[in-house]
Amino acid sequence: MHPMLNIAIRAARRAGDVILRGLEQRHHLHVEMKGHNDFVTEIDRQAESAIIDTLLTAYPHHSILGEESGKRTGKEPFQWIIDPLDGTTNYLHGHPQFAVSIAVKHNNRLEQAVVYNPLTEELFTASRGQGALLNNKRIRVSNVPQLQTALLGTGFPFRETNWLDTYIEIFRDLMLKTSGMRRCGSAALDLAYVASGRLDGFWEFGLKPWDIAAGTLLVLEAGGLVSDMQGNNDFLEKGDIVAGNLKIHKQLLEIIKPHLK
Ligand code: IPD
Ligand code: CA
Ligand code: CA
Repeated sequence: MHPMLNIAIRAARRAGDVILRGLEQRHHLHVEMKGHNDFVTEIDRQAESAIIDTLLTAYPHHSILGEESGKRTGKEPFQWIIDPLDGTTNYLHGHPQFAVSIAVKHNNRLEQAVVYNPLTEELFTASRGQGALLNNKRIRVSNVPQLQTALLGTGFPFRETNWLDTYIEIFRDLMLKTSGMRRCGSAALDLAYVASGRLDGFWEFGLKPWDIAAGTLLVLEAGGLVSDMQGNNDFLEKGDIVAGNLKIHKQLLEIIKPHLK
């Protein structure tokens, strides 16, 4: 295993321990609102500190982009992209879909990825060029060839509502042309599920790099495709994302594109 992946796993497990301990006391947590429907608790912050502490102990000169603590620039061309708790709203309700997401980029290319669900102990990992794994077993995207038989994941635009109308139009179109749509509440897990064939595709507007960096490498290494809604490559910065097996990704773009103004 690549040493950086090993460190990322250690960091994710430490964050997972913080998250599980906090889950028992979730009714007593101090919850702040960063924006409309955007919650943060001391657990998000403690989990992120545990991750950063683990990463910087091993790699003191690397850069960090963390959801809760922002950017830290180091001397070496490695940047860790961290979502300590993806699915905070679920977590606050005891709804069991949330995960830790950690990826590292080298010179702007995703190299290692971990998405860890501490409740189910499912550990999704990927190293560039080495494939993707779930609990050390190889995973692949599904081979469902047609939208009609596809199960898709999505996320609702519940924070920024500028694209709500466009979203609903696309949703309507896809609802009529697929076998179903799921909204799990953790984009990192959605992408991990695409990588492992539990979902055939995924689409969401307005995400942040920490929501999708690790999941993106999982999908790519599992043989899938990821792009923005136009089919371009700048989705990490833009935050609009379409992922799927090769056929479903293509068909999703064909349906989504005409709705974009
Ligand atoms: C959120 C989750 C959710 C997605 C939101 C994200 P958070 O992350 O990934 O599925 O729909 O847009 O912000 O805030 O729970 O880390
Ligand atoms: Ca997130
Ligand atoms: Ca988060």
